Amino acid sequence: MRRVAKKLFLKTYGCQMNVYDSERMAEALGGQGYETTDRAEDADMILLNTCHIREKAAEKVYSELGRFKHLKAEKPDLKIGVAGCVAQAEGAEIMRRQPLVDLVVGPQSYHRLPQLEAKVQKGERAVETEFPEEDKFDHLAARPKAKRGPTAFLTVQEGCDKFCAFCVVPYTRGAEVSRPAERIVAEARDLVERGVREITLLGQNVNAYHGGEGGLAGLIWTLAKIDGLERIRFTTSHPNDMDDPLIEAHGTCDKLMPYLHLPVQSGSDKILKAMNRKHTAEAYLRIIERLREARPDILLSGDFIVGFPGETEADFADTMSLVGAVGYGQSYSFKYSPRPGTPAAEREDVTEDAKNDRLQRLQALLVAQQRAAQDAMVGREVRVLFEKPGRLEGQMGGKSEYLHAVHVHAPDAERGQIARVRVTGSAANSLAGELV
Ligand code: SAH
Ligand code: SF4
Ligand code: F3S
Repeated sequence: MRRVAKKLFLKTYGCQMNVYDSERMAEALGGQGYETTDRAEDADMILLNTCHIREKAAEKVYSELGRFKHLKAEKPDLKIGVAGCVAQAEGAEIMRRQPLVDLVVGPQSYHRLPQLEAKVQKGERAVETEFPEEDKFDHLAARPKAKRGPTAFLTVQEGCDKFCAFCVVPYTRGAEVSRPAERIVAEARDLVERGVREITLLGQNVNAYHGGEGGLAGLIWTLAKIDGLERIRFTTSHPNDMDDPLIEAHGTCDKLMPYLHLPVQSGSDKILKAMNRKHTAEAYLRIIERLREARPDILLSGDFIVGFPGETEADFADTMSLVGAVGYGQSYSFKYSPRPGTPAAEREDVTEDAKNDRLQRLQALLVAQQRAAQDAMVGREVRVLFEKPGRLEGQMGGKSEYLHAVHVHAPDAERGQIARVRVTGSAANSLAGELV
C-alpha cells in the first residue's frame, strides 16, 4: 500500500537565514513523510518560521495564528508549530497566548524536528528552545539530490556577539558560530551539481566568519575554485569585520559580485556610540572609499534605523548627510522598535511623529538614490543570470551582477544561463534589456 504523503504548509518571515532554515526544515520533515503545500487548508502541519526583529514582525505571527483557528476546528489532527526567532524569544509563552500551538522550536534546534513531530503526533506538546551542545548541521540528514534553481543561499555562520543596543539577534540566535569550511565547500559542490550557479553565503555577521583559514575572504577564494559556480555573494556584513583581504577580494576575485550590503544604521557618532556599533561614521566612509578603490563600480546597500532613543534633528541630519556622501544603490530603513530584553528598550523613546517624519525624509532620499543608480545602468552592458521566465511571452528574468532585476526578450534562453545584456530601460524596480 502506498503511503499518502502528509502535507506541510511552511511560511517564512524575516531574513534570508530564515529562508535557508525553512528549506532545511522542510527537508527534515520530508524524512517523516511530509510534502510541502502552498495551501494552509490542505495542511496536516502548519509551521511558521518567524522573525522577532521589530514589534510588527513578531505581532504578525499572532494574527496569522489566529487565522488558523477555523482550520484546526475543522481538522482536529492539524498540528501547528512556531519556529524561528519568535519561538526562541518567547518559548512556551507562545502556547499560553495562543493555545492552538502544538510545537515551538528555536533556530538552533530544528534538527530535532523529527522527534518533536513524533511527540506532537502522540497528542503531546513540544517546546525546544535550548541552544543544544551538538551542531544542528551535523545532525540534519543529507540534502536531497533533486534539481534546483540557479541561485541558492548557504548559511556559513550564525549568531552574533556584537550586541547592538537595539537588536534581539544575539539573544534569538545565540553566540557567533562558524561552520567548518570543508563542510561548506561540500555543500556548495552539491548545490552546483544540482544546477546552482550563484551562491549567497549567509550569516548574521557573515564577515566575522572564522571556520577556515583566511576568514570569509579565504572561504570565498576556495569556493571560487568550484567549476560551474559562477557567482558568489555574501550577506550581512558588519563594518568592523570588513578586513583587508575581503576588501581586496572585491577587486580581484572575478566570481565575487560587485554588490555589498553594509549596514551603518546611523550617520551620527553620538547615536552610533549609543547603539554600541563600535565604529564612527568616518570609519564607515573610509571602508566605502577603500571598497570603491578596489572595485569602482561596486553597488552599495545599507540598513538604517531612525528615531533611536536620544536621536535629535541634528543626529538625523548626520544620517542624511552620510547617505548623501555614500550614494546607495539599494537600502532598507526602519523606525526604531523597542525590543524586550535589549538595553535600548529601557531608554526614552523618540515620539512616533518624529520617527514617521524622519523615515519619510530618509526614504525619499534613498529611493531617489536607488532610482538614480538604476537609471545610470541604461546603455551599459551587464551579465544577467536567468532565473525564471518573465510575464511577457518569450521573456526571461534574472539578476545582473549588481543584483538589479533585469527583463529580457530571450525566447531561446534557459534558466541558469548567464547572458550579455544591454540595458535599455529603467522602471520602478527593474531594468529592461536586450541580448547582445
Ligand atoms: N546583522 C545585521 C542586521 C540584522 S537585523 C547587521 O548587523 O547589520 C536587520 C536590520 O534590522 C538591522 O540592520 C537594523 O537596521 C534593523 N533592526 C534591527 N533591530 C531593530 C529594531 N529594534 N528596530 C528597528 N530596526 C531594527
Ligand atoms: Fe544585531 Fe548588531 Fe548583531 Fe547585526 S551586528 S545582528 S544589528 S546585534
Ligand atoms: Fe528576524 Fe531572526 Fe532574521 S529576528 S531578521 S529572522 S535572525
